[in-house]
Amino acid sequence: MKSVVIKLYPESAKILRHNRQYIPGGIVSVNRTADPEICFVRGDGPYIWDVEGNRYIDYHFAFAPHFLGHNDPYVSEAVRDVIKSKVSLFGSGPSRLEGELAELFCRYVKTADSVQFVNTGSEATSQAIRLARAVTGRDHIIVVQGSYNGWHNDVSCNLMTPLSTLGPRLSPGEYGYASISAGVPLAHRSLVHIVNFNDLESVRYVCEKYPIAALITEPILQNIGVVKPQPEYLEGLRALADALGFVLIFDEVKTGFRHALGGYAEICGVRPDVATYGKAIANGYPIAAVAGKKELMDWFVHPEPAKRVLLAGTYNAHPVPTAAAIATITRLAMNDGEVYRHVERLGEKMEGGLAKIFRSFGLQAVVARQGSAFCIYFMGHCPTDWHDLATNHNFADDNSFRQALVRRGIYFFPLAAKQCSICFAHNDEDVETTLQLISEALSEVFDELSNQPQRNLREAASD
Ligand SMILES: Cc1ncc(COP(=O)(O)O)c(C=O)c1O
Repeated sequence: MKSVVIKLYPESAKILRHNRQYIPGGIVSVNRTADPEICFVRGDGPYIWDVEGNRYIDYHFAFAPHFLGHNDPYVSEAVRDVIKSKVSLFGSGPSRLEGELAELFCRYVKTADSVQFVNTGSEATSQAIRLARAVTGRDHIIVVQGSYNGWHNDVSCNLMTPLSTLGPRLSPGEYGYASISAGVPLAHRSLVHIVNFNDLESVRYVCEKYPIAALITEPILQNIGVVKPQPEYLEGLRALADALGFVLIFDEVKTGFRHALGGYAEICGVRPDVATYGKAIANGYPIAAVAGKKELMDWFVHPEPAKRVLLAGTYNAHPVPTAAAIATITRLAMNDGEVYRHVERLGEKMEGGLAKIFRSFGLQAVVARQGSAFCIYFMGHCPTDWHDLATNHNFADDNSFRQALVRRGIYFFPLAAKQCSICFAHNDEDVETTLQLISEALSEVFDELSNQPQRNLREAASD
């Protein structure tokens, strides 16, 4: 099958030009800036359509919330029902829906004694860190290089930091706060300590130097692809938190509900003190959660006002996303894990198919995968931390490959090292078509059967 190659996006360009008159940059989240800039207008299951009428098999899913697929019928019906029911956002007293969602959440997320709902992952991580500071009476925190935890001052740093800024690997040691935003006060930066993933020695080193309230990390780094914890790493963090008295926060905004109903904590068997959730919890509707051990969560309603952690929000547990979350969790729990079995099977098929293609091309490339989440790295092994990835992955080839795929109607977000997601609505044919088009795209980027010399692209990591 030879695909149609999409080349031009004139209508998208027109919309962007229009938007730029009123919105700085023309797009409401800077993270959505992409090359090519395409305006999408419709999503159904695993497919999205752009304004020019081109259809794509989606693997981006808006940075991963649509785990069931776009506009999943079960979730959409729950949303229609709640709107029809005339339940509104009352903003006074408890709501039945929030209680129903909380009960469902705690039934499946076994590591959570209780839960609070907010609107976004950034709100959730901000609340989790504030809670940790209140409980420990300490101000300093540890953030992991390559873990994205939101846009607020504590964590808007050290994602894909160029190694020229970061410097060589330090272990034990810490890296400087490399802000991904202007406007973070210097005083605030001094409270944030950066260590690499999979590096317990540096956690211990930092804890010996500063009073650490919390360590926050994605349990799998899924904002730089799929970088998995090494055996004993998460257990080691748990042991250090217990020994040194800091709060262990798992940021499960990307891993939660995607890898298991109980999040990655259920899979790895390590219980964080507090965890944050978002994205797949409501299949694309805006709701997020902070959950954890009762003795910490109760600080949100501490009887002493001076110790009470303020958790408030006009839109918290708005009925529309709350109904969507109830429907999503209910759907995920149906038929004894049918959703998880399906995406694991397709994930395996994708991984196996890719390995075959890489062999046939004689290409130095690997697939890192956890269930439905995967990433292709143009290097000889799966990376274990940002230094490893930034040193060895071929970012320029990855960008070219992704753009060649987009031109063929396969939507991998066109930015190197970004994670791809399989959803429940994908089927075998989608994966087969994708593999075929990946072969074509690789042929365009690489000479078949001749492994191009891997360029050293340290600087490209700043893309
Ligand atoms: C792991 C993780 N934590 C937190 C966030 C922030 O969530 P939000 O964009 O909903 O504020 C993200 C967003 O991509 C994320 O991937």
